[in-house]
Amino acid sequence: MNVHDSERLAGMLEEAGYVPFVQGVTPDLIVFNTCAVRENADNKLYGNLSHLVPVKAKNPGMQIAVGGCLAQKDQHTILKKSPVVDVVFGTHNIGSLPVLLERARIEQEAQIEIMESLVEFPSVLPAKRESAYAAWVSISVGCNNTCTYCIVPALRGKERDRRPGEILAEIEALVAQGVSEITLLGQNVNAYGVEFGDREAFSKLLKACGEVPGLERVRFTSPHPGEFTDDVIEAMAVTPNVMPQLHMPLQSGSNEILRAMRRSYRQDRYLGIIAKVRAAMPDAAITTDIIVGFPGETEEDFLQTMHVVKEARFSMAYTFLYSPRPGTEAAEMPDQIPHAVKQDRYERLVAVGNQIAWEENLKQVGKIVEVLVAQGEGRKDGDTDRVSGRTPDFRLVHVTVDPNQPRPRPGDVVTAEVSFAAPFHMVADRLVSVRRTKAGDLSELPPEVAGISLGMPTIRVGTA
Ligand code: 5AD
Ligand code: SF4
Repeated sequence: MNVHDSERLAGMLEEAGYVPFVQGVTPDLIVFNTCAVRENADNKLYGNLSHLVPVKAKNPGMQIAVGGCLAQKDQHTILKKSPVVDVVFGTHNIGSLPVLLERARIEQEAQIEIMESLVEFPSVLPAKRESAYAAWVSISVGCNNTCTYCIVPALRGKERDRRPGEILAEIEALVAQGVSEITLLGQNVNAYGVEFGDREAFSKLLKACGEVPGLERVRFTSPHPGEFTDDVIEAMAVTPNVMPQLHMPLQSGSNEILRAMRRSYRQDRYLGIIAKVRAAMPDAAITTDIIVGFPGETEEDFLQTMHVVKEARFSMAYTFLYSPRPGTEAAEMPDQIPHAVKQDRYERLVAVGNQIAWEENLKQVGKIVEVLVAQGEGRKDGDTDRVSGRTPDFRLVHVTVDPNQPRPRPGDVVTAEVSFAAPFHMVADRLVSVRRTKAGDLSELPPEVAGISLGMPTIRVGTA
């Protein structure tokens, strides 16, 4: 969500006449788009701001803006803690940034704008997309759940759903610009439709994505196991461009901890969804988010999480140390877990998760996979001529290319045989085919043409 907001911020600033910073030049404007989901984001912001104190002293015309969840949370504290900041804007105010910057310049005074709730979807704003071939599409913002560890509802507000027609119009416009992969974005995509009273709205949306000509890959994030219904599994299975990949946050495998987290499902339901997904899509790769060291988590609770990780065989488990967030219920709970215990559980879980991820990747060796070549993903390897990208099930693959043929570009699609597997990536040394795509053509255009889209409903199509 933050990355997508950043694209909107960049798009608006370009529209207002700003140009991207080039290495070696001191920028006139620095924008921090912050996250507050875990505590280390706070620490990073204030550390970065203090580094900028001498830079700003030398360049008095420079402006610094802080937006996003941390701005929404800390509001006036940011200006008190850091006098170098010119503008503070909340999660519902990203459209105001250019105006606030101008006002701060004219009035020579720091500006702050924080709204309690969203007035219009950020999707109406122009975006400067990071990639010519892949795009985020927001289907909802905010969340009606009240998970006791989570600060998001306090900062992003109640769920607001975009209407399907508007979402599909944005997707069609993106495809017309050369986009071949979209990721539908919502805090809880399974709740999509709650605002306009259609419980099957998300599965219908997935199926409708299947009807968009030229749209090759559809992903979504994040679903909620409590509200995950069978129609969504069916829609994933029958819609060929919906990828066989699911990122489904587990958070904990212990029923007691799930209850304390106010997560509405239990271990058996979670594993039941996975079994159904695997029955409908045997090749689906499933990833998850897990929190270790939630208040009151016992060794037995933790072992229940270990058990689910072993049963579910995630292709990747993003594991986090529980981080108390101000204003959340869990931050006030007794039995906060000492850091050393959290760290120990974290390390044990990561070791098991990585081993499983590796074993799952090893099963891919010898298979022919289709890779959508990415921009700047994976490692830069001087010795081998490889391009990197993702398979339909979102595994990262480095593919050796033919030096005598034109190099596949970001957005092109290659097929190759997997020859090596590590826990987090694979290598494919035998290239089978290369398909040059419109997205690939666009990647060769200058950045001011490729990757820019104006927000809905006005669409500027890249001129090729
Ligand atoms: N502490 C640790 N991890 C958290 N997450 C959300 N809130 C917290 C917290 N207070 C994790 C969850 C979520 C992911 C985005 O961040 O696992 O799925
Ligand atoms: Fe936070 Fe829970 Fe909503 Fe996810 S579902 S955003 S964890 S409150």
